[in-house]
Amino acid sequence: MKKRIAVIPGDGIGLDVTPEALKVLRAIAETGGHEFVFTEFDWGAERYLATGVSLPEGALDDLRRSYDVVFLGALGDPRVPDMKHATDILFGLRFGLELYANIRPVKLLAPQLTPLRDRGVGDLDFVVVRENTEGLYVHMGGNFKKDTKDEVAIQEDVNTYKGVERIIRFAFEYARAHGRKQLLMSDKSNALTYGHDLWQRVFAELQPQYPEIESRHLYVDNLAFQLIKNPTQFDVIVTCNMFGDIISDLGAALVGGLGLAASGNVNPDGLSMFEPVHGSAPKYAGKNVANPMAAILTAGMLLDHLGLQQEAEWVEQAARASMETGNTARDLGGSLKTSEVGDWMADYITAQYPAKTARS
Ligand SMILES: NC(=O)c1ccc[n+]([C@@H]2O[C@H](COP(=O)([O-])OP(=O)(O)OC[C@H]3O[C@@H](n4cnc5c(N)ncnc54)[C@H](O)[C@@H]3O)[C@@H](O)[C@H]2O)c1
Repeated sequence: MKKRIAVIPGDGIGLDVTPEALKVLRAIAETGGHEFVFTEFDWGAERYLATGVSLPEGALDDLRRSYDVVFLGALGDPRVPDMKHATDILFGLRFGLELYANIRPVKLLAPQLTPLRDRGVGDLDFVVVRENTEGLYVHMGGNFKKDTKDEVAIQEDVNTYKGVERIIRFAFEYARAHGRKQLLMSDKSNALTYGHDLWQRVFAELQPQYPEIESRHLYVDNLAFQLIKNPTQFDVIVTCNMFGDIISDLGAALVGGLGLAASGNVNPDGLSMFEPVHGSAPKYAGKNVANPMAAILTAGMLLDHLGLQQEAEWVEQAARASMETGNTARDLGGSLKTSEVGDWMADYITAQYPAKTARS
């Protein structure tokens, strides 16, 4: 299989972890008999500070035309305090490419990674499907009498029938395609009686179309409580942009933290983009200490998206082995540097899965 992959390392530790994800993808290509062609883009703070350009003109068309998938490291730089470039690039890609489904798996790979008592591998394995193009993140609103004691600040929460229907349908379809049995829709319709009432009505409309999926609802405050108390009950969770943002970080904390949290921004009818959940963690940037496993597991999701399920499984098995053997970065209690984690993963895949397996 030949695939063209657009790579945007971005800023901070994005520049450190992205080469490690590519290292693992190269090992997978070699082992699986595939050809991955990587094209790097220097979109990020450095270029923005030097030229004033954040997301170049025509970028979206170029990506759509020439690539099968996008990999992004992270964006954010203290030298750009208003985050202008990061907002332009990240939201430009998410909104411009209609990446409406943000998939964030929460899976425990080794028992020592969870802060929860008496929970083991197999107890935590669910996926958060976050709406990624609407809600409170559409930058609609404004300030009146800004910087006075009479200031009024309004941030609009946008929920459209089209947006809500496609994300709930995506979650049902995702559950069906991945052999998942349950779907939970979470909102705050008891307080947000217009926007989230729409979620309720669309959910009720779609439920009969997926009789094999057990579907139910929880208010998001109860969901937060249940995620700590009994996370084993969850399979697929679909929710709005802001709740998904928060709930998935909570989920990441349950299974080892941001150094392990992977995500995909998916448009099922177009180009999709994969990125670790973490940001640019400026204090670790350029020090070869950040954990690249989130980026590597993100590369695994990218493989799954390209239809390479076996190769995606290899990445997860290698990650599991790294944790079982203590070959991890500092945030997980190990002593490996960023580049050493990437080396270990690539070597493991090359040694464990001989190249002829997939070619034969
Ligand atoms: N999608 C993105 O690109 C994205 C996401 C979140 C934040 N940001 C941006 O990143 C910058 C820093 O934000 P932040 O500090 O709130 O979040 P962050 O995710 O960058 O870092 C938070 C903390 O998590 C830990 N951490 C994160 N990733 C890690 C890794 N790979 N290995 C080890 N430890 C890791 C570190 O302790 C770090 O200080 C800001 O500019 C923010 O806007 C970007």
